[in-house]
Amino acid sequence: MTVTARQLSLDALDRIERDGAYANLVLPELLGRTGLAPRDRHFATELVYGTTRMRRACDYLVDRFLTRDLEPRVRNALRLGAYQLHFLSMAPHAAVGETVEVAPKAARGLVNAVLRRVASAPPTWPDDATRLSYPDWVVDTVVDDLGAGDGMRALEVMNTPPPVTEREDGYVQDLASQWVAAAVGAQPGDRVADLCAAPGGKALLLAATGARVVAADIRPRRAGLMASNALGRAELPVIVADGVHPPLRPRSFDRVLVDAPCSGLGVLRRRPDARWRIDADAPARLGAVQRALVDAAAELVRPGGRLVYSVCTLTDAESVAVDDHLADRADFTAEPPPDGPWRPRGRGAVLLPQVADTDGMYLLRLRRDG
Ligand SMILES: C[S@@+](CC[C@H](N)C(=O)[O-])C[C@H]1O[C@@H](n2cnc3c(N)ncnc32)[C@H](O)[C@@H]1O
Repeated sequence: MTVTARQLSLDALDRIERDGAYANLVLPELLGRTGLAPRDRHFATELVYGTTRMRRACDYLVDRFLTRDLEPRVRNALRLGAYQLHFLSMAPHAAVGETVEVAPKAARGLVNAVLRRVASAPPTWPDDATRLSYPDWVVDTVVDDLGAGDGMRALEVMNTPPPVTEREDGYVQDLASQWVAAAVGAQPGDRVADLCAAPGGKALLLAATGARVVAADIRPRRAGLMASNALGRAELPVIVADGVHPPLRPRSFDRVLVDAPCSGLGVLRRRPDARWRIDADAPARLGAVQRALVDAAAELVRPGGRLVYSVCTLTDAESVAVDDHLADRADFTAEPPPDGPWRPRGRGAVLLPQVADTDGMYLLRLRRDG
């Protein structure tokens, strides 16, 4: 029997939950083993990504009608059904009937009964975190840091699938990342260090300006992948190095980019399971790493050169707090943020996902005076 989109989706949800598999890895693997038509592949992708993203909300929808714990595959079948009914507004006869068919045999009666009740009982959400399906701490942090209006809108937009933006060279990269690379302002012949460079999207754009770029990353495997990306480009050397102790000559670079490891709260739309993986301590913990990275990066910048810091997240701990740390240095002055969709935030700028339908980012540009 050939597998259906819903069956494949249920298998993927089980792997994500049981094995901690990444949605964006397990889905292509399962799709690769089937002969599903393009329409069904698209539907399975929507089901797996959507149900994973909206897991907490789907649990709320079904838990209203459950009195006992369920085995994981039965719960996943209920989540899958609730997602179709509530978030895809599918007709109950299709969503319920076909989801029941792929549920474990012994639980089909229960799945049918619960989904019928979900179909006929609109929810009264207990709070925004349940309705928008985020951990409490994510909603609290984003709303505290951005304000209720911008924060809630950002969280809503990150529940929608991201647009796919293909660069002229065929590489798929979000526009926000392209704008960060442009904001570095590299000129032909400039010496540029990209201290957190893998997988290399921004480094390649920087090299395309005619700048001489050194791409460093602490993780050998990621650096290796980047080296194969950049293959044949002698002008883009890749090194494995800890950006906190870069093996590079102080005060010798025109531009230094720190596109730092971060909590990734600005790219949640791209990674459906990420919101369930990141822990509440991540922003503070990564903030310390980011401060160490910008300190080291600052030493590499020549007088008159630029230090550029960016993160794909929206927390103050990883943006304005890093800037506050740098503000103690008398030898660096902030440059105005770029025009366009960037909005000033402290001395830097933030790109909210809702403004230009991109990832969320923070950017800070400083000039070394002496
Ligand atoms: C946000 S990603 C960079 C994305 C990249 N700039 C691009 O545009 O494709 C952050 C990278 O920092 C690397 N990293 C983490 N800690 C580091 C450190 N101490 N030194 C250098 N790289 C580090 C991670 O391995 C990861 O590849």
